[in-house]
Amino acid sequence: MFQAVSKTLSAASTTLVCRGVLIRCYCKKTPTKLRVSRALSGADLGASVKVQGWVRSVRPQKANLFLHVNDGSSLQPLQVVASPELNDPLLTFGSAVEVTGILKKSPHKKQSVELEADQILVVGECDPVDFPFKIKERHGLEYIRQYPHLRCRTNAFSSLLRIRSEATTAIHSYFKENDFVQIHTPIITSNDCEGAGELFQVEPSGPEIVEDEYFFSVPTFLTVSGQLHLEVISGAFSRVYTFGPTFRAENSQSRRHLAEFYMVEAEISFTQSIEDLTKVMEDMFKSATEHVLAHCVEDVDLFHKHVTPGHRDTVDAMMKNTFPVITYTEAVDILNRSSEKFASPAGWGCDLKTEHEKYLVKHCGNIPVFVTDYPYDLKPFYARDNQDHPERTAAAVDLLVPGVGELCGGSLREERLDLLRARLEEAGLEDTYSWYLDLRRFGSVPHGGFGLGFERYLQCILGVDNIKDVIPFPRFSHSCLL
Ligand code: 4AD
Repeated sequence: MFQAVSKTLSAASTTLVCRGVLIRCYCKKTPTKLRVSRALSGADLGASVKVQGWVRSVRPQKANLFLHVNDGSSLQPLQVVASPELNDPLLTFGSAVEVTGILKKSPHKKQSVELEADQILVVGECDPVDFPFKIKERHGLEYIRQYPHLRCRTNAFSSLLRIRSEATTAIHSYFKENDFVQIHTPIITSNDCEGAGELFQVEPSGPEIVEDEYFFSVPTFLTVSGQLHLEVISGAFSRVYTFGPTFRAENSQSRRHLAEFYMVEAEISFTQSIEDLTKVMEDMFKSATEHVLAHCVEDVDLFHKHVTPGHRDTVDAMMKNTFPVITYTEAVDILNRSSEKFASPAGWGCDLKTEHEKYLVKHCGNIPVFVTDYPYDLKPFYARDNQDHPERTAAAVDLLVPGVGELCGGSLREERLDLLRARLEEAGLEDTYSWYLDLRRFGSVPHGGFGLGFERYLQCILGVDNIKDVIPFPRFSHSCLL
C-alpha cells in the first residue's frame, strides 16, 4: 500500500434506490483512470477522472494551486488546478502523484483542457535538492547522460523514447505493408557473420571456463548480424527481415558506435541488381521518417527547435530528394579532387573513413547518398563478385547520411556455388560454412540484403550528435551502467 499523503476536499454522498431498498453510498462514482494524452485529447470533458504521474511543475498562487503532471504518454503535461488547501510541502518537482477531479475546458491559452482537482495524493516523494534535474533548467543531453537511471524524467529523453517507440512501429509497418515476413534470428550464434573478429563470447558464468567444455560444445558468440540466418530463411521466403539487438566488441567510444545496438536487416530473394536493395532502403527510410514526423510532431519539434536547431531543413531535404547513387570509384575520385585536407587520404582499395563519408554527403547536397561497388577485397566472403577485372569490385552498397556517415551496409550475395566455394576455400572456411554452401547447392537464387543501424537512423532524423543519447541504456567499451 502507498505510504501516501492525501488531501481531499469534502466527500460527497450519493443515494441509490435498488429493489425498493434505500442504499446510501458514501463513496462517489469511481473516477475513470486516464492517461495524460487521453485527458488532453478533450474527449472526456466533464468526466470524473483519476490521473497518475509525476509532477513537472508546482505553482502555488493565492487563489489556486497549479501543477503540471506527466505520465510519459505525451510531451505536453496535464495542468491540474486545485484549491490552495490541497497544497502540500511534499508536492515537489519530480514527486509521483495521483490526482482525482473533473476534466474541464481550460480558460488558459496554453492548454485546452485542465483537471480541476478535488484530491491530490502524493504517492512518492522527491527531494528537490538531491534530485539532479532542476525545475526551470534546460539540461543538455551530455549532462543528463550521467543519470541513465533518471534521464527518462526529462522532456528531451522522454521525447526520444516516444520517437524511438514510434519509429520501431513504423519500420515494422513498412515491412508488413510490403509483404516481408519477420524472422526472429538468434542472439546466440556459432558463426561470425562479418568475419571481423569483434565478437563477445558466450559462456555461463562460473569460477573458470574450461577449454573444450563449452556450454554449447562449440564456441558461441552474441550475434554481430542476423544476415546469415536470414539468408537461410530466404531460401524459402522471398522477403524476410529481422529487427533486434546486435553486439560488437568494438573498442570504440565514438559518437556512432555502441557495443549493443539495434539493427534492422532485410533479405530479398530473386534480385536483379543492386537497385532492388537501394529501392527498399530508400523507401523504408522515407516511409519510417514520414510516419515519425506525422505521429510525433511535438517530440520531434522539441529536438528540431531546442536540441538541434535547424536540423528540420536537413530532414525535409532528405525527404524531398531522390538519394543519388555513386560508385566507390567515383567516390574516391571526388575525394581526391577535393581541396579538403583529410586526416587519412583516400585511395582506391582503402575503406572510406567517417570524414570521407561526411564529405561525400556534403558534396551530394547534404542528402543521403548510396555508394556502390566496393573493392572485392574489402568485403566479406558473401558479397557478390562483379567480375569486373582488373578492378575487381563486389556488388556491395552503403547508404551514407548527413551528420552520421554510414547508416546502412548491404550487398548482393554470391549465389554461384563455384565462386563462393573458391572464396571460402581461400579463407580456409569451407568446412565451417558447409551449411552455407548447401544454400547454394539446393535451389540457389540471386539475392541480397542490407542492415540499418537503428540508433544511427535516430541520430540522422533528429540531428543528435552522440549515439549514446538515442538508446535507453548505452553500452560501450568501459561502460555498462545499470
Ligand atoms: O555494415 P554492417 O556491419 O552490415 C552488416 O552487419 C551486414 N551483415 C548487414 C546485412 O547485410 N544484413 O552493419 C550495418 C549497420 C551499419 O551501417 C551501421 O549503421 C550499424 O549497422 N552499425 C552500428 N551501429 C552502432 N554501433 C556499432 N558498433 C555499429 N556497427 C554497425
